[in-house]
Amino acid sequence: MSKLVSLGLAILALTALIQSSTAQTTHVVGDELGWLVPPGGPIAYETWAAQQTFMVGDVLVFNFTTGEQDVARVTKEAFAACNSTNPISLQTTGPFNYTLVTAGEYYFIGTMDNGNRCALGQKLAINVTVPRDPVTYTVGDSLGWEVPPGGEIAYATWAYRKVFLVGDTLVFNFTNGTQDVAFVTKEAYKTCNTTAATTVLTTSPARMILTVVGENFFTSTDSRRCALGQKLAINVTSASPSPAGAPGSSSSPSPVAGGPAPPLSSSAPPRAVFGFSLITLFSTLFLAVFY
Ligand SMILES: *[C@@H]1O[C@H](CO)[C@@H](O)[C@H](O)[C@H]1NC(C)=O
Ligand SMILES: *[C@@H]1O[C@H](CO)[C@@H](O)[C@H](O)[C@H]1NC(C)=O
Ligand SMILES: *[C@@H]1O[C@H](CO)[C@@H](O)[C@H](O)[C@H]1NC(C)=O
Ligand SMILES: *[C@@H]1O[C@H](CO)[C@@H](O)[C@H](O)[C@H]1NC(C)=O
Ligand SMILES: *[C@@H]1O[C@H](CO)[C@@H](O)[C@H](O)[C@H]1NC(C)=O
Ligand SMILES: *[C@@H]1O[C@H](CO)[C@@H](O)[C@H](O)[C@H]1NC(C)=O
Ligand SMILES: *[C@@H]1O[C@H](CO)[C@@H](O)[C@H](O)[C@H]1NC(C)=O
Ligand SMILES: *[C@@H]1O[C@H](CO)[C@@H](O)[C@H](O)[C@H]1NC(C)=O
Repeated sequence: MSKLVSLGLAILALTALIQSSTAQTTHVVGDELGWLVPPGGPIAYETWAAQQTFMVGDVLVFNFTTGEQDVARVTKEAFAACNSTNPISLQTTGPFNYTLVTAGEYYFIGTMDNGNRCALGQKLAINVTVPRDPVTYTVGDSLGWEVPPGGEIAYATWAYRKVFLVGDTLVFNFTNGTQDVAFVTKEAYKTCNTTAATTVLTTSPARMILTVVGENFFTSTDSRRCALGQKLAINVTSASPSPAGAPGSSSSPSPVAGGPAPPLSSSAPPRAVFGFSLITLFSTLFLAVFY
């Protein structure tokens, strides 16, 4: 890896850190009450939660004394039944900071006294949302979609720390006639065997609306181009709270391909491009400071 690329990655990481530290809100669960069996019963944390807006990246602080309380993240069913048998996670050291990393519903209970504390109201249910409208990303920005000079690290760097949500659009900008873009399986992405690709777009700019939650893989149907690094892997997150357990169950198996005539251009402003320019600006500032 060239020094320039490492430097670029370091700068991206730095700017991402700066961005996330300015964006997050800290919620002290129950405020001054802290995390315990509330005097008023379950209504206490329900009322508290109803007054908050929880966004991806925010932090919950469960303020309790080690040994006196604990906190477990549990499923919706376990929450309803105050069942602490198989929690998703259990924290016995307080105060405890929990970072909300994905959108959706989160359920927390106190597990002491065989679920009695939960039954008495030491339980919290929240909805976490994503603070933005759909975004249109131009893959690779000004590089566009081609065999990148530095190999596949180029698109990994481009995707680094970007948040991709269901409903966002990827625009692949390439040369008509000689190139294309295919939505492929993880296996095809790894082996560069794209014979089974279902969604292939051959006219630029090619627009794909993200509909599949989880990992999404894109490459060229030309296996040599794929092998040389014209490939992109991203993680797509559900944009709105989804009932626990079945993320993306109603999604079609591939992104919705938009033609060269942009179907969503009016509703999807190119904010990502702006965001990336901001990062670039920051990076330039950092460079200016370092040298
Ligand atoms: C946690 O609770 C203690 C004792 O009530 C209090 O002094 C402290 O300020 C609280 N911490 C937060 C982050 O609210
Ligand atoms: C509690 O959950 C566990 C597994 O998560 C399950 O085996 C058990 O039956 C549940 N207990 C009750 C009382 O529902
Ligand atoms: C938890 O968050 C509080 C409030 O932002 C902060 O003061 C404290 O240092 C954090 N604790 C840890 C272990 O990160
Ligand atoms: C989350 O939001 C959905 C949809 O608005 C709602 O049905 C659900 O009850 C909410 N869940 C919680 C834990 O607030
Ligand atoms: C696509 O690439 C062409 C040629 O490099 C450029 O003129 C055009 O602005 C690009 N389009 C987008 C949406 O980036
Ligand atoms: C490529 O994948 C197809 C099916 O997805 C398979 O039939 C074929 O044998 C594979 N080719 C190679 C060279 O592995
Ligand atoms: C690619 O071809 C399509 C359809 O022929 C055309 O609309 C589009 O402008 C062309 N794109 C470029 C970058 O030349
Ligand atoms: C997607 O997220 C999972 C879990 O965090 C991680 O293991 C995986 O490497 C990610 N994939 C991509 C393409 O970023």
